[in-house]
Amino acid sequence: MNHNIILIGYMGSGKSTVAKELHIKTGMKVIDTDALLVKEQGRSINEIFQTDGEESFRKLETELLRRLSENTSSYILSTGGGMPVREENRAILKSLGTVFFLQADTDTIFARVKEDTQRPLLQGTDQRTRIDKMLKERTPMYELAADHMIKTDDKTVEDVVGEILRLARN
Ligand code: S3P
Repeated sequence: MNHNIILIGYMGSGKSTVAKELHIKTGMKVIDTDALLVKEQGRSINEIFQTDGEESFRKLETELLRRLSENTSSYILSTGGGMPVREENRAILKSLGTVFFLQADTDTIFARVKEDTQRPLLQGTDQRTRIDKMLKERTPMYELAADHMIKTDDKTVEDVVGEILRLARN
């Protein structure tokens, strides 16, 4: 398989876990945009948001995607949950490979992220309400960017990976 697999979806939708399992199954390398930005910046996502603001983080994300366009080897790209919000990013994501939207409902996401301290947009009160609102705002953008939507709520990682590989090979 030489086509890139691009994973998009809200925070806690399982992108990193699915990317790791895809790597085990295919041997393709994983590029995680959050991890790469943290490495390149030498600071955490929280620090980037606190010091420079969200808009600067979004610019870093877009610059990173532009650089990936020049990467020829085949990979699995696990993206930050806000990546498909910018129209430019959606176009680049589509050009990079087959885009899979990992979809999960508010309650699933909330259960997965409620103890999280590393995601700046999820800190503070009324977490479930904010997740619900952001999911409603973002879902149309995830759908616009995606070639395939995979519902993950009641599935194991193996189920999700199996579905992705079947679709990617067709
Ligand atoms: C964000 C998602 C995070 C990270 C940042 C912002 C978002 O990535 O990029 O905290 O706007 O949804 P994950 O989806 O990997 O948690």
